[in-house]
Amino acid sequence: MSVAPMVDVTDRHFRYFNRLLTKNSYLYTEMISTGAIIHGDRHRILDFSPQEKPLVLQIGAAKPEEMVEAVKIAEDWDYDEINLNVGCPSNKVQEGDLGACLMAKPELVRDILTEARGITSKPVTVKHRIGIDDLDKYEDMENFCSIVEASGVTRYIVHARIAILKGLSPKDNRNIPPLRYEDVYRLKEEYPHFQIEINGGFKDRESILAQKEILDGVMLGRAAYERPYLLNEVENVLYPEDTASITRQEILEHLIGYIQENFDEDNKAWPLYRNIYDLFAFHKGAKVWKRILNEGLKEDKPGDALKKALDQLPLESLLSSSLLPLSS
Ligand SMILES: Cc1cc2nc3c(=O)[nH]c(=O)nc-3n(C[C@H](O)[C@H](O)[C@H](O)COP(=O)(O)O)c2cc1C
Repeated sequence: MSVAPMVDVTDRHFRYFNRLLTKNSYLYTEMISTGAIIHGDRHRILDFSPQEKPLVLQIGAAKPEEMVEAVKIAEDWDYDEINLNVGCPSNKVQEGDLGACLMAKPELVRDILTEARGITSKPVTVKHRIGIDDLDKYEDMENFCSIVEASGVTRYIVHARIAILKGLSPKDNRNIPPLRYEDVYRLKEEYPHFQIEINGGFKDRESILAQKEILDGVMLGRAAYERPYLLNEVENVLYPEDTASITRQEILEHLIGYIQENFDEDNKAWPLYRNIYDLFAFHKGAKVWKRILNEGLKEDKPGDALKKALDQLPLESLLSSSLLPLSS
């Protein structure tokens, strides 16, 4: 299992929170362009805490030489893997010739990945779509992979939807094109030597675990923030020997210390607090939890909002009510 790269979501605070829930999953950075790595504030963009590992740096690249420079720089940070984004359809990303539009240029993707592999001994992987625009058939994806394979990359994370580059927003491109898991399964059948991780639409324990029989992994995107505790529920099944189980109470107690160490006022700790709003998602107490957390956020001292929320009621009372159906 892994948690998907998500811009404006998978920052270091989110990843720290994820790591409490899942010890073994690979976590990803947001997509970072080669330009940002080369010209930006590197410490702000690339720093992470050791607890976040194993951690994958996702890069958006349009040219092999820029990828080389970015990967060289990132070597000093010791990420566990480097991943190339060939799935993002946003206009801004397209303007930079990055992301999903690269599905139409498999030779360029091959060259970017080949060069990256020459710079680092870390695994280099690719996250792509099953197609774009009129390159939307299984055979088009198969052609893409057969060319990219010459780079030596063997791990493919496949978002099982095409992207429509003109006319759909990134949000619509995550919802409107139908999921075609069967294309991903067929790719694994025809390329059994590939390690294939499937992505798109996984929201419950059963459907995630079912992929174990067919593929090499599952990547969760929105479910990781819409129902974060799912990560721990899956982790417990995948690694029962690891005593990975952690209660919501323990998570929150742990985060008080994290907030005190990393923020000097509670109201500045919003980047962390926003991640715990949905810790009770799909339980009847979810609304109560959000309300008491909001009330607590009027406090100033770091961690006090959480302390106050925890003092206010036994958390089991939020859980004891039966689960609502996932569709609600
Ligand atoms: C807010 C948001 C930001 C995203 N940013 C990225 C990104 O930086 N890189 C990327 O490869 N995919 C990005 N994605 C796509 C996800 O990684 C994932 O492929 C997609 O959400 C489908 O998985 P899901 O149905 O489990 O959410 C983003 C998705 C969301 C919701």
